[in-house]
Amino acid sequence: MRVAMIGTGYVGLVSGACFADFGHVVTCIDKDPRKISRLLAGEIPIYEPGLDDLVARNVREGRLSFTLEGAQAIKDADAVFIAVGTPTRRGDGHADLSYVYAAAEEIAGLIDGFTVVVTKSTVPVGTGDEVEAIIKRVNPAAQFAVVSNPEFLREGAAIEDFKRPDRVVVGAEDERAQAVMRELYRPLSLNETPIVFTGRRTSELIKYAANAFLAMKITFINEMADLCEKVGADVQQVAKGIGLDKRIGSKFLNAGPGYGGSCFPKDTIARNRTGVNGFAVRRVTTPPPGHRVDTLASAKRGSGYQRSGGLAMPNFALSKGIASGVVDLAR
Ligand SMILES: NC(=O)c1ccc[n+]([C@@H]2O[C@H](COP(=O)([O-])OP(=O)(O)OC[C@H]3O[C@@H](n4cnc5c(N)ncnc54)[C@H](O)[C@@H]3O)[C@@H](O)[C@H]2O)c1
Repeated sequence: MRVAMIGTGYVGLVSGACFADFGHVVTCIDKDPRKISRLLAGEIPIYEPGLDDLVARNVREGRLSFTLEGAQAIKDADAVFIAVGTPTRRGDGHADLSYVYAAAEEIAGLIDGFTVVVTKSTVPVGTGDEVEAIIKRVNPAAQFAVVSNPEFLREGAAIEDFKRPDRVVVGAEDERAQAVMRELYRPLSLNETPIVFTGRRTSELIKYAANAFLAMKITFINEMADLCEKVGADVQQVAKGIGLDKRIGSKFLNAGPGYGGSCFPKDTIARNRTGVNGFAVRRVTTPPPGHRVDTLASAKRGSGYQRSGGLAMPNFALSKGIASGVVDLAR
């Protein structure tokens, strides 16, 4: 298949190189001339183990190329991925979607034949609807489907995560789009990777829910570390003791300075903003008798945390009253 990747940052470059390695013909597009000239010179702008060899091999074998001018690649593509940044919007904590919408505008005028437009960037629920509306407005005759395909790779293990993921999530209602996505990820069927097909909005929410849950685990074990210091217990043994329980799992239970990196802080804040915008945002506690559901005033605090009875927990925005699983142990 022919793929155009708009945005050749961490996600775009790794995804593009891996799709090329799957056998697809991939053009990675970026508007940053420095980035593209470095890539054309064979330099890798990020540190990611194994990426230099992967890129070099696929460029050599004619399946991977880089360009500032993506028009032809977009016209020729079966699938156009949007992998641009979605940083925190200054002032209000929402995800800044201006890069995503600008990419949608650029794609719209170039669509030629049925094309799947895939949002790989982490975006709030409803962004796919807006991308679809932009393309329809700019090019009413375009034949296309907008799909959500969030990325779960970790920096430092990105190639392994892309090529051997726990799952691939695809939010696509259109059957032709589903077939294209299945074909793109077909090599993963060799190691029986589950491909979870959902509605587009569900897929968008899965990404935020996953990051919120992982952030919660980190925050939880840090609170346990504080408690351990007070009561003379060993947090590493607590982590091991609970992590061996398969319902809990041992990952993301290392006590430390708290979560950081390029995604968790912005995504937990953006998810809270999603809750404030028109959804019923509530914190569900799991108390013993006398089930209690609070209005989530803390969503307004925007920090991604709330203090409750001595335990800091990330807030979970809930859609239409669906329980999120925030456990308030202190009550
Ligand atoms: N970095 C990660 O570990 C990771 C993991 C999963 C998901 N994500 C998500 O993936 C998305 C991309 O993240 P990233 O870390 O790759 O960002 P990045 O900042 O490294 O790369 C984004 C790239 O997009 C380019 N760009 C922006 N607008 C463009 C346009 N119109 N045309 C061409 N290029 C354009 C920028 O120049 C930049 O090179 C974000 O939504 C992020 O939350 C990131």
